[in-house]
Amino acid sequence: MSDGMSITITDGGPYIVRGNVPLFEKRIVRRGGLYVWEDVREIPHGETYALCRCGRTKDAPFCDGGSHKRFKGKEKADRRPYAERCQRIEGPGMVIGDDMRCSLSRFCHRAEGTPWKMLPRSDDPEIRDEIVRAVVECPSGRLSVIEDGVPTDHVPEPAIWVVQDPENRVSGGLYVMGGIPIVGSDGFVYESRGRTVLCRCGVSGDMPFCDASHINNMFRDDRNRR
Ligand code: FES
Repeated sequence: MSDGMSITITDGGPYIVRGNVPLFEKRIVRRGGLYVWEDVREIPHGETYALCRCGRTKDAPFCDGGSHKRFKGKEKADRRPYAERCQRIEGPGMVIGDDMRCSLSRFCHRAEGTPWKMLPRSDDPEIRDEIVRAVVECPSGRLSVIEDGVPTDHVPEPAIWVVQDPENRVSGGLYVMGGIPIVGSDGFVYESRGRTVLCRCGVSGDMPFCDASHINNMFRDDRNRR
């Protein structure tokens, strides 16, 4: 339960995290042909803390209080609920939803292919199960299984994961788990989803969410470290 927890986006500044939200650093690694999580550390924090969203902090993952001076970070993302935003893609055995909000974490890359590739064979129960695994393991919350017309949502324990992506030699976004409410800089409360990824490189075209720009931008959270 994410009761009492929240993430508030500040205008031109950091994310203010309230409610003693657990904070971890994790890495995306490839093992046995699949992408998996590797724990790096639990990051000590206070009840309330400020996470950098401009990508220029000298004290990652926290805001250093000054490096965001000229950062704008205007929120541009589509604010409609997932059920309205997502495209519904039908296969013979199931329907999946796709809202295209992707952090390029690659957990949907399975031995049998991606969910989109596998979908035409979804009348095979084993393929269907593999698609469900890919959907559930997608940390961006981009994909869903549509049941009776309604997108399902997998909700892990509430936490924020600060992510490193050594395969791409970059640092990734802030992975928000467990439906922690996200409040825009104008007070708008985004729809709570079980998994979503917030930008921390400062250049996403879909602020406040990650659009994988950190990869092209070669974002490294240690590049400005004091
Ligand atoms: S948001 Fe404050 S240093 Fe990046």
